[in-house]
Amino acid sequence: MSIDSKFLNLFIKVTENAAIGASKFIGKKDKIAADKGAVDPMRRELNKINMEGTIVIGEGEMDEAPMLYIGEKLGTLNGPKFDIAVDPLEGTKFTANNQPNAFSVLVVSKKGDLLSAPDTYMEKIAIGANLPKNLLDIDNGVEKNIELLAKAKNKKISEIKACVLKRPRHDHIIETLNKLKVTINFITDGDIAGALSVIGEEAKNDIYYSTGGGPEGVIAAAALSCYGGQIQGRLVLNEEEKIRAKKLGINDFKKKYNIEDMVKGDVIFCATGVTSGDLTKGVKDLGNEFEVSTFVLHKSKKVNKIVTNIYNK
Ligand code: FBP
Repeated sequence: MSIDSKFLNLFIKVTENAAIGASKFIGKKDKIAADKGAVDPMRRELNKINMEGTIVIGEGEMDEAPMLYIGEKLGTLNGPKFDIAVDPLEGTKFTANNQPNAFSVLVVSKKGDLLSAPDTYMEKIAIGANLPKNLLDIDNGVEKNIELLAKAKNKKISEIKACVLKRPRHDHIIETLNKLKVTINFITDGDIAGALSVIGEEAKNDIYYSTGGGPEGVIAAAALSCYGGQIQGRLVLNEEEKIRAKKLGINDFKKKYNIEDMVKGDVIFCATGVTSGDLTKGVKDLGNEFEVSTFVLHKSKKVNKIVTNIYNK
């Protein structure tokens, strides 16, 4: 069952409004205000849609987030049942510091089709399309995975390009990649765009290999599923996080989630740029108006486009 196309423009409007809200805080050195600038309009616009939406990936769990929390119901409650994953502002630091690659993003599926992941870390490996299913496995380790990938892509190991989130926790990954002479393209934040850098004919990278946010992992999985890409993720949970995960129905704490465990069926993915980046242009202030650009995917309808719209101030 696919999601009716009539919803596409309504969801685009949601991330457009959130991006405009966040854009007012570009360069203002206030991550929290920038995030709130996106959350409020996102929630307002979602509530206008004739649907029974449930947040499955949100700003946190019920007791820690005032809105867009996991389990929150959104929409007029008069319409189809959707699961919604949101990251109202991916790249809070990028926005606060006026750096590229901040955007507002949401994913919509039919009810029950998205993994509800707690706001914890997730080990992730993402690769592009046209590769054997489940080619890589987190437990193989870096060296074996790179060897398998190079073989499947008919490339020399030294021709492989990997995207890594620059964090001390990835020193072991970086060390092995350097030993193998793999080119590393570091990102300082924003691992949804990092994971998506493996898709498309002119993909910047062959693999994304890092531990980032679990919610970001599921959101990236939704976009990757529209391209036939792959991702494997495993949550990283401390004792307190295990209790939170259990509340979301996760009992196997060591489970490796393949793409079909994170996203099933049809999805809509909308990402509106706040600052310009790899996915879209940022919000342009035209004086009396804002120009906004959104990267849009609708899997079942094979929609893959950039939509630009103008909003009066
Ligand atoms: P926010 O924009 O929500 O701050 O997230 C940015 C981000 O870089 C994510 O893309 C990534 O998954 C996560 O933070 C990594 O977390 P950490 O900065 O703790 O390593």
